Parts: sequence; C-alpha cells; structure tokens
Amino acid sequence: MSGTHSVLAHVQEAENAPVNTTFLNDVLRGLSQPQKSLSSKYFYDEAGDHLFQRIMRCDDYYLTRCEMEVFREKANELVSELNIDGAEFDLVELGAGDGIKTRHLLRYLSEANADFRYLPVDISGHILDVLCAGIQQNISDVDIHSFEGDYFAALGEIDRFSQRRKVVLFLGSNIGNMPVEDCHTFCLRLGEHMHPGDLLITGFDLKKDPRTILRAYDDSDGLTREFNLNLLRRINGELGADFRLENFEHFQTYNPVSGACQSYLISQKNQTVSIAGRSISFEKHEPVFMEVSRKFSLTEVDDLAVTTGFSPVKHCLDSKGWFVNAVWMKN
Ligand SMILES: C[S@@+](CC[C@H](N)C(=O)[O-])C[C@H]1O[C@@H](n2cnc3c(N)ncnc32)[C@H](O)[C@@H]1O
Repeated sequence: MSGTHSVLAHVQEAENAPVNTTFLNDVLRGLSQPQKSLSSKYFYDEAGDHLFQRIMRCDDYYLTRCEMEVFREKANELVSELNIDGAEFDLVELGAGDGIKTRHLLRYLSEANADFRYLPVDISGHILDVLCAGIQQNISDVDIHSFEGDYFAALGEIDRFSQRRKVVLFLGSNIGNMPVEDCHTFCLRLGEHMHPGDLLITGFDLKKDPRTILRAYDDSDGLTREFNLNLLRRINGELGADFRLENFEHFQTYNPVSGACQSYLISQKNQTVSIAGRSISFEKHEPVFMEVSRKFSLTEVDDLAVTTGFSPVKHCLDSKGWFVNAVWMKN
C-alpha cells in the first residue's frame, strides 16, 4: 500500500473557457441543428448525480447489479494479467461516479498489498466528493487523487502527474454513450495515454431481450424521465433559460439491429424558449435527442479492441450473461 492517508487533489479542467461558456455554447449549438440535441455529459449536476444514484438502485435498471456482481465475485480475474506484486501502478477510473462497484476491486487490491494509487476522474466535482468520502469510510488505506474534468483534459493532467503503469477502468457502460465513430476515436485517443502492457477494463452492456433493455431506460418509477428533464432544469438554473418542463415528455427507443437505445424529449406543443437571450423554437412533437446507450455483442467488443490498438484478454460476465467487463491489453 502506497500510503495510509488520502490526498484529494481536485484538478480543474485544463480547457481555458469557463465551464458555463462551454455549456452555453454546447447547448445553443445542439439546439440550432435541424435534429436538435443536448449533450448527455451535462446530465450530471448535483440533482442529476442524485437521480442517477437512484436509477442505479431501481429494479428495472439491471446494469449496475450485473456489473456489481462481476466486481464482487471476479475482482481477482479482472486483474489477473497484472503482476500486482510487481512495480507500482495507478488505477485510473474514467467517469467514476460514486465508485460503489470499484470499492470491491479496491478492497481486493488493498488486501493483496498491491502498491497502487486510485485516480478517479469525473466531470462532476460533487460526485467525486461522494466517491472519496465513501472510500475513505470503507477502505481507509487507499491512496486517492481525484481529477475533476472532461476525460481527456484529466488524462493530460494524469500524464503530467505520474509515469507509472496504468490500469484504466471505464465502467457502467459509459462507452455505450458514444456514437459508433466517437467510440472508436475515444479508444484510439485513450491508447495514446497508455503504454504497452497497460490494462483497460471496460463495461459493455450486451444485446439481450429488447424489452428488458427498454425497461431499464423507461423505468416504472419514472426516474429516467426525471433524469432527462433535469437537464432542462439545469439549463434554466445555470444559463437563464425558461424551459417549461411540463411542455416536454420523455420517449425511449431501442433498435435491436444497431443496438442503439436512444432517449428523446418530445416537445408537447409549438413553443419558443429563451436561452441567455436567444430564442429557440420547437414544433409540436419535435424530438430533442438526449443520449444513446449502445448495446454490444461480444464479437463487436473484441473487434473494437483489435481495431484500436488493444488485444482482447478476457471477458468477465455476470451470471445472466447480460453484461461484460472486457479486459484489454495495450499493444
Ligand atoms: C452513467 S454514469 C456511470 C458512473 C460509474 N462509471 C458507474 O459505473 O457507476 C457516468 C459518469 O461519467 C461522468 N461523465 C460523463 N461524461 C463525462 C466526461 N465527458 N468526462 C468525465 N466524466 C464524465 C458523469 O459525471 C457520471 O458520473
């Protein structure tokens, strides 16, 4: 163990623009396109973090339970390619959220006396505070340095901070929240921050009964609906907009061929919304694309590794075979 105390070094996003300007520009750009859209990375303000934690606990959202089972039952398998008695390493987690699954791996590494530091990255400073407090309370001897910011801004900071070998975690099927081309580019860019032999452990939600998938994103408690509408509430609060939430309704689709599960907010009437002095018109029934959550086959997972400079090492699946944590090694 590299230390008995935790250092919380929240490193702000390296991009120069203040977050609100970037947020405003992204929102205006997305809502000015013929197919209106909003970026799902803005879901996670403090209210969004709380809603997502409730989604993870709800019956219909199977993803967290499946991946939790893998981390609880198979932590040793996930890192068996890594010589944990060898040189020190950094466990980097991208989009770490509250880290409740990762705790199982941290406990396993800690009990095996591995010489590592835990470097969680998240765009939400609030959820990093929740994560760090939870880990300090449960596994107090883990050395944590948290990085607040966008994935690649934070990875740049991490490269300046440390040259140790890396094990990178990208859990919760975050990788599915990118269109196919972006997903490919993401893996290539991520590889530029890794050395040959470093490991990448990614959570992929697998194709399954389409009804099971749709229910996870259109749950009976209405949490995913609230989660989507909360982004409009955030835009009102942070960008001085006047969205009326009752004028939009959540709608979810799943295409079993492409594996794309997509969420939309549908305008319920002809309306005009003001955002920082700009007027944006919505027609009745016009959709605003919010997020894709892509589902994969195991072959698609392996193909993605091979075409982006990694070697597929193993698949760690939950007992239902609904979710896989794929272990890849950097070539
Ligand atoms: C779907 S949650 C998953 C959280 C966690 N990985 C898990 O499996 O429980 C996505 C997390 O990624 C973070 N996130 C989303 N986009 C991000 C980005 N571009 N850069 C850094 N973090 C991001 C969010 O703040 C959120 O905590």
